[in-house]
Amino acid sequence: MRREVLEAQKSRLAAIAPFTPAPRPERREEWKLKLDANENHFIDGGILRRILAEALEEVDPRFYPVEEFQLLREDISRWLGVGSDLIALGYGADQLVELLVQAFGVGYGVASISPTSPSYETRCRILGLKYSSTPLRGDGFELDVERLSEEARRSGLVFICSPNNPTANQFRRDDILAIVENAAWVVVVDEAYADFGEYSMVGDVERYDNLIVLRTFSKFFGLAGLRVGYLIAPRDVIDAFVRVVPPFNVPSFSLAAARRALRHLDHALKAVEELKAERSRLIQRLNTISGVRAFPSQANFIFLTAHLDSSIARRALSEYGVMARIIEGMPGLGTCFKITVGRREANDSVVEAFSSLMGGGA
Ligand SMILES: Cc1ncc(COP(=O)(O)O)c(C=O)c1O
Repeated sequence: MRREVLEAQKSRLAAIAPFTPAPRPERREEWKLKLDANENHFIDGGILRRILAEALEEVDPRFYPVEEFQLLREDISRWLGVGSDLIALGYGADQLVELLVQAFGVGYGVASISPTSPSYETRCRILGLKYSSTPLRGDGFELDVERLSEEARRSGLVFICSPNNPTANQFRRDDILAIVENAAWVVVVDEAYADFGEYSMVGDVERYDNLIVLRTFSKFFGLAGLRVGYLIAPRDVIDAFVRVVPPFNVPSFSLAAARRALRHLDHALKAVEELKAERSRLIQRLNTISGVRAFPSQANFIFLTAHLDSSIARRALSEYGVMARIIEGMPGLGTCFKITVGRREANDSVVEAFSSLMGGGA
């Protein structure tokens, strides 16, 4: 019996792809080309250190956080203009994805798009839930509204990542709303990158009884290491959802730091403007390299394709010290890359690496 159980569990778990970070240079000084995880390179490190020092002063780790949850919800509520009782917090947006699947995917399955963030599918596989993915259309990577609506009518939960990871484009609001209107139950718009995009759907939550917007402090505020995510949902949805949220699921230190980060909104917004300027420059320069196509981006990373063998590309990028993601499984597009927008110098190295890889000048 023991052996049988072991074998069954081993094969079930073997089907789940573990998360593997991109290989990284040992020395932190070389991380200026760490462009694999869509982190924020534009937030000032000095400000973040001050935030952490202040949070450290405030927090008493002997106690579980209780009031701290409410305080952060109230601060987010004032910032976004939504009721604090419509906000739930998570240990990163990633934990909220997991909890959303538990709350609304069980029994009815989950629908999403492809390519997109792998965590939705992984969470479904872990729980043995049905997961359908509707391919994006054409090389503008648009939503296939008709097909996704059909899937959404048969699912308990739909994830739409917008701006989408890895294609970097933000979908048309009307397309997303059409899916929200057609879905059997809840639609989650994952806005991890919306602060780098054109618009947010937070304001739409009050008009629909089934729209959830998922966001994070990891990208816009540059607090990826502290793991603070949040979602905004209609009242009935949040009342149901909070039942699956474990108590004290965000550390008091992270809650305190996130509250302080909100006092530096001006800086975060300025950092976004700098990032956008670098993003345009990077895309424009990459597109001068023959055989490379960098797509428009509304995120803090770019998606690009190159006529290259993927194993050669992997080796060459690591020789240049560029840590980037190669995206598999996009037939017909050549080798696909996802690269975080870094500071000017890092972006210049990316251009140089691709230009030498393609055997030409930029
Ligand atoms: C689309 C998307 N959603 C959520 C996350 C995770 O965010 P967090 O750091 O808050 O867990 C990521 C991380 O890269 C992401 O790409």
